[in-house]
Parts: sequence; C-alpha cells; structure tokens
Amino acid sequence: MSGNYYPALKQINSVCNSSFGLRKIGNSIAKSAAKAVRGQGCRILFLNPLKRYLVTIGSYGLSDLFLRKGPLDARKSLPDILDGKTVYIADIAGIAAEHGIQYPEEDRKQGIASILGIPIAKDDKVVGEIRIYTREIREFSESDRNFLLSVADVCALLFERMELSILMERSYKADKEKLESHVPQLPTNALRPTSFAHPSEEEFAKLLDFYRIEWLYEPRAFPLRWGDNGVAEMFTPDFYLSEMDLYVELTTLKQSLITEKNRKVRRLKELYPEINIKLLNKYDYTRLLAKYGYSFAGEAKAEGIERILYSDTQIQRRVRVLAKRISQDYAGEKLVLVGILKGVVCFMSDLMRNLSLPVIPDFMAISRYGGDARVVQITKDLDSTITGQHVLMVEDIVDTGMTLNYVLKYILARNPASLHVCTFLDKRVRRIVDVPLKYVGFEIKDEFIVGYGLDREGEYRNLPFIGVLHHELMKEGAKAKQG
Ligand code: IMP
Ligand code: MG
Repeated sequence: MSGNYYPALKQINSVCNSSFGLRKIGNSIAKSAAKAVRGQGCRILFLNPLKRYLVTIGSYGLSDLFLRKGPLDARKSLPDILDGKTVYIADIAGIAAEHGIQYPEEDRKQGIASILGIPIAKDDKVVGEIRIYTREIREFSESDRNFLLSVADVCALLFERMELSILMERSYKADKEKLESHVPQLPTNALRPTSFAHPSEEEFAKLLDFYRIEWLYEPRAFPLRWGDNGVAEMFTPDFYLSEMDLYVELTTLKQSLITEKNRKVRRLKELYPEINIKLLNKYDYTRLLAKYGYSFAGEAKAEGIERILYSDTQIQRRVRVLAKRISQDYAGEKLVLVGILKGVVCFMSDLMRNLSLPVIPDFMAISRYGGDARVVQITKDLDSTITGQHVLMVEDIVDTGMTLNYVLKYILARNPASLHVCTFLDKRVRRIVDVPLKYVGFEIKDEFIVGYGLDREGEYRNLPFIGVLHHELMKEGAKAKQG
C-alpha cells in the first residue's frame, strides 16, 4: 500500500503558506508527514546554527515528556544525518549510545521501535532533520523516503523564511535607530543575533547559554489587533525557550513600559490561550530558572564555573532511569548500597530514594596519599556485614578507576552474593584500570567538573548541578582530588 503523498504535500504547502506561527506550522507538517508514511510520531528539527543542538520546531504523536527528554546533541543523536545521509534504525532496542541513540531509555519508554531520519538541506548544507518514529519494527518504501525528502525541501524553505523574518525585524529596528540609513549590517547569524535590542536581552541570552537552555530570539510575531488594512498591532516576545515551550518578554524597570507590556501580554494570552508567555524582569530570571531546575538557590559557591554540564532537571531524570533499571534487575532482593564518602552523597541520596527495593545504604571513607602513585587507605570501614549480600557499589565518578579497583577487591574479599557498580559519571577516556561498570549515568569528556557532590578542594559540593570549571582552575583541580 503506497502512502497518500499528494494530499499530504498539498496540506503541508498550504499550511506553510499560511500566516500561522512557526510552531503551529511545524506541528502540522509533522502530522501530515507522519500520517502519509504511516509513522506514529514525527519531529521537525532545526539545527542550531552553532551546530550543537537540534531544536524541535514541530512534532506529532510524541509525549511531552519525550520531547523534553533533553536537548538533542546533534553530534550524539544520529550524527550521520548531519552528513546529509538518510538514517534508518530498524530496532532501537538493540542499539546503544555509541551508535547514535542519545536517549535509548526514553525512546523505549515512548514505545518507539524504529526511527527514520531525513536531512533537511539547503545547498548541500544540513540545516535540520525530519524524524519519523514507528511503534513496530518496519521498513520504509523508496516512495516513503522520496516523499519525506520533498517535505524536507519545504522545511528548508520554511527555515529560510523563519530566519528571514528575523532579519527583517532586525533591519527594521536598525533603520529606525539610524535614520541616515545606509544598508544596515545584517547579523551573520540571524537566530543568534550578534546585537540585541537591549543589553538585558543579551545578558539573558548569556544566562540561557550558561545553563544550556535552547533559545530563539524573537522567532514569532503575534497579531494583537486588526484594523481595516489588516494587522494594526503586533507583539514580538523577546525569546522562545523551546525546551520549556515558553515565550519570554523581558521588561526594563520603566513603569510606563511595564504597564504597556502587561497589556500586550494579557491580550496575547486572550487571543492565543495555548501560548505560554512570561513577563520577566531581571530579578525574575533566576527564580524562573530555579523553578525549572536550572538555577541554584542561595549563596552556593558558583564562581569559576564555566558552564553547566548537567542541570538539576537532567540529573534527576537520569537518576530515575538508573533507579528503575536497578529496581527491575534486583526485584525481590535486598540490596546493600556502598558509597565512598564524600563525593557520592548527592547521588546516593537521590538514587536510593528512587529505588523500589529494600535497601541498606553504607559508606566507606578513604584517604589517598603518595601523589600520583595514589596509595589508598581505608579510614572508615563499612558498618554492615556484606557477606552473602547483594552489593551495589555506588560512585559519583570513575576517573582512572584506581580507587574503585581497590575498593572492589576489598569488598570481594568479604564474599558478597553479588557485586556490581553504578556510577553517575564515567570519565572513560582517563581509565587506567579497567573496572566493570554495570550502570552509568553519563559518560563525560576529560574535563574537571564540580557540583552534585563533586568538589575542588572541598568546595562546590552543594551545587545542585554539575558544572565544568574554568580551564585554569581545572588544572589545579586535577591535582587536588579528594574523594
Ligand atoms: P579515580 O580513582 O581516578 O577513578 O578517581 C575517582 C575519584 O576522583 C572520584 O571519586 C572523585 O572523588 C575524584 N574525581 C575524579 N574526577 C573528578 C572531577 O572531574 N571532579 C571532581 N572529582 C573528581
Ligand atoms: Mg568519590
């Protein structure tokens, strides 16, 4: 049975030619595309010009949770598409991260069996992707693929228009500013403008970058009032945060402007009830970000942090996935969790609270000396008897593997019924001693990181996120490991 391509393409073209907002157009394309090739889900992704993230422009048939599973790192998630290739994964269940599936667990939960990824290209340059998801393992016909390539062409035009409208908006503002008006300098990167209309916007953009939250600058204009000659009033919110599906309008401290903006936001909410928008002043930023699990509270030491590697939200999401897997694997058993103080405290407490098993947490403390020789000595032993017990070693991070190797040998000598390792972070590139890791939260690069229990000279442990230290601090930090 061949798909209903023509009506689908007609529908897609007409929605693209409408004056609907980007999201609505994106969702509509996703729906038509999925249905035409009999997929259960679809996403239209825009490749962030920095080539790092794929931003969801529209989707169909996928849960909110799935869409928020975290930013899609373009190089980790089906990277071959970036080379302009169509990628088809028939059975994601048998495939892991190293083969280009960034969130296998989430995919499985969503009930996804196969993924077909089509590049959206403009002059041989990949600018986005269409992904089709199916619930059962199946093949796509040649016509399915050709149809999707046509949809991809339409999407390329749509993206171009989206960038163009931003360019026009910017050049209009530039014109207004300088009436002497020579041809305004257009920013080289339209979606990441090099100049903002207001310094507070630039600051907010930097903050979002710091927390690695995807954003678009002024991506959509909402008509608010219509007169005889069409739209009489428009409102263009400053930012769109795609991961939170939230528009943000920043306010200055001028009361007259705030009143005016309040009116516009209220009107927008009336006219477009499905849109989430927030009016924020400078002091609201951190409160908002904290609410979404990105920021941190109080006076925790955060200076010296270059960027956030994993936000609180991402950490908690990953811990739940690990805990679920462990709960399944050890169902019906009692489990002794062994952690090494102090780095493990955050992970241990989050992990054990998510386990649906009877659990006995226990801790050891060690000290290391002898510089690089790294002689390890146990300064606090376990409280419980582990002989004949199922033991899960819980680690914050495995780096060279020397600490873990030593402790595993020590525990094995006490004859547990079983012994496995769960580490939140795995700095595999630095491994010297090969230790078997059964459960891994995230594999990370060779960077010195702090927060979520990890320290540099005793500091930073209480940050709720995991951050990368500035380069100079990192070198010092590498010398100063302490549990
Ligand atoms: P390993 O013996 O080299 O595997 O070292 C593991 C221990 O080193 C961890 O438990 C941490 O205490 C510490 N460590 C390794 N890498 C980092 C890091 O990037 N930041 C903070 N502590 C680290
Ligand atoms: Mg440790």
